[in-house]
Amino acid sequence: MVDTRVNLNGITLDNPVIPASGTFGFGKEFAELYDINCLGTFSFKGTTKEPRFGNPTPRIAECTSGMINSVGLQNPGVEHVISNELKELKEYFSKPVMANVSGFSIDEYVYTCKKIDEAPQVGWIEVNVSCPNVHGGGMSFGTTPESAAEVTKAVKAVTTKPVYIKLSPNVTDIVSVAVACEEAGADGISLINTLLGMRIDLKTKKCVIANKMGGFSGPAIFPVALRMVYQVYDAVKIPIIGMGGVSTAEDVIEMILAGATAVQVGAANLVDPFACKKIIDQLPECMEKYGINKLRDIIGGAH
Ligand code: SIN
Repeated sequence: MVDTRVNLNGITLDNPVIPASGTFGFGKEFAELYDINCLGTFSFKGTTKEPRFGNPTPRIAECTSGMINSVGLQNPGVEHVISNELKELKEYFSKPVMANVSGFSIDEYVYTCKKIDEAPQVGWIEVNVSCPNVHGGGMSFGTTPESAAEVTKAVKAVTTKPVYIKLSPNVTDIVSVAVACEEAGADGISLINTLLGMRIDLKTKKCVIANKMGGFSGPAIFPVALRMVYQVYDAVKIPIIGMGGVSTAEDVIEMILAGATAVQVGAANLVDPFACKKIIDQLPECMEKYGINKLRDIIGGAH
């Protein structure tokens, strides 16, 4: 019997599979389809201080082997998330959950992280400094080592739970940003968020997405994500959660060999709501096929 367990900052996950923020809501709709307690955990929808309606539509464009989204951090705001979503979550998810937080200023990140840190169900805080779909915040905090470090330091000063910083691939040197976050006190790194992309409609000759550009995700970005996880693993000691185009049990193992301790699955949930369950079901057989006994023994094994 193979062992799929991994450890994220002292919390054991039954397996490394984590639905990525923005592709799983607060889990409710998925819990109607299957028992989501089979997941390692899940990262809930990016939460901000104030409620947000998000960007104008159209917000989605289809692409070969992927999709572009420009949702714009639509969410009900941190007070509602704590008093409603997390309250309801107790009924269908009994494991620690990962809280994904976004902001438009350091003060907003601090406010939201401090509040969410107090919620007993939250096991980890994933700070998104990499959303490509909003102005005056989001990705802008993740594009220089200095600004990413500033957010990390500020959030760490007001929280008690492990803090992961979710990085953008839309930079020339993701390693320097990851190292700066580690030096500023981050407990882990999540990578990668989406790649900035766009589509043009040939009939209207205009951009498909109302906001013109959006975040490209899906199987097409997997090799880019894998390369970045591999590079960052060489440079930091804190755990990495790898993500970007993961859609099979084989992809999960590849990510772990590159250096990920756990793996998030994003766009695949939008193609097939059972994607994470299927990956978890297939993982033991896939491990046996490749002669892997304990998943945690192969973290960074490709180095
Ligand atoms: C969004 O809500 O725009 C997506 C979040 C992200 O890409 O960080």
